[in-house]
Amino acid sequence: MNAAIRAVVRGAVYNGVRIFGIKRGYQGMLDDDIEEMHSRSVSNIIHAGGTMLKSARSKDFRTEEGRKRAFDNLKKHGIDALVVIGGDGTFTGARIFGEETGIPVVGVPGTIDNDLYGTDYTIGYDTALNTVVEAVDKIRDTATAHNRLFFIEVMGRDAGFLALRSGVASGAEAILVPEVQTDYDQLKEFLQNGYKRNKTSSIVLVAEGDKIGGGAIKIAEKVSQEHPEYDARVTILGHIQRGGSPSAFDRVSASRMGVAAVDALLKGENNIMIGLSNNQISHTPFSDALKNKKPLNSHLLEVNNILSI
Ligand code: F6P
Repeated sequence: MNAAIRAVVRGAVYNGVRIFGIKRGYQGMLDDDIEEMHSRSVSNIIHAGGTMLKSARSKDFRTEEGRKRAFDNLKKHGIDALVVIGGDGTFTGARIFGEETGIPVVGVPGTIDNDLYGTDYTIGYDTALNTVVEAVDKIRDTATAHNRLFFIEVMGRDAGFLALRSGVASGAEAILVPEVQTDYDQLKEFLQNGYKRNKTSSIVLVAEGDKIGGGAIKIAEKVSQEHPEYDARVTILGHIQRGGSPSAFDRVSASRMGVAAVDALLKGENNIMIGLSNNQISHTPFSDALKNKKPLNSHLLEVNNILSI
């Protein structure tokens, strides 16, 4: 997100536009936590994880009164357009705010879940992916040394992009995602096949919101009860996935999208999300980005089934 903030600030300064940073998202807009930024305000942040502007979930912004207060603060500073960085919650707020106040808003997609329609990649996804793969590689060392079965839970309450791609990249034996109904018997079959083929370790990547339900702990408990011959363990990677120095891919994507957001506003665009589609900058109306569900690449699941024999 820092790379995106840097790109928006510098993109604006480059075009001779004054730019303000709003701390803690919509909550900061309500609290008038707003400061003018300059080129040097965003020095030395491109490599830093997190966001220099901080982030928050704002209950007050859900009310009309709260949004009115936020708009008054923007007017006070002479702010006449907004760039918001975030996921579907952020864009839902942006769409309502734009409609009510008439202020032009452009969104930049930022979530490790990669679950936004209208972009192939969201900021943070690639970094989180690399964090997961690095962790799974390390866990596999133990799994192989002890002939163990590991259930590794990754983030993704409603989306399996992170689990699917990290599973393929780390050679997982099975991947459980919210979008695909994998039943418990199918999972057992996968594991039994591996066991019969003398696999020395097995890794099952479980997205938080998988369809079997209950997450990695519940699934592991059930498998262990029925198959005490598997030496099963669970690792929940948790918020480690949301931090750390961003990957080169994320930095470049965020830089491109931040500059494109400023360009779009200067060209009079409004109510759109910037995206990267087929490696080109794309514009998707908020309404489409919010209404449509990005499909999971089912081909990748097939690839994993083939490769996990
Ligand atoms: O960033 C999205 C996400 O990673 C979801 O996949 C996850 O369920 C959620 O955030 C957890 O966020 P928190 O625990 O910070 O509320």
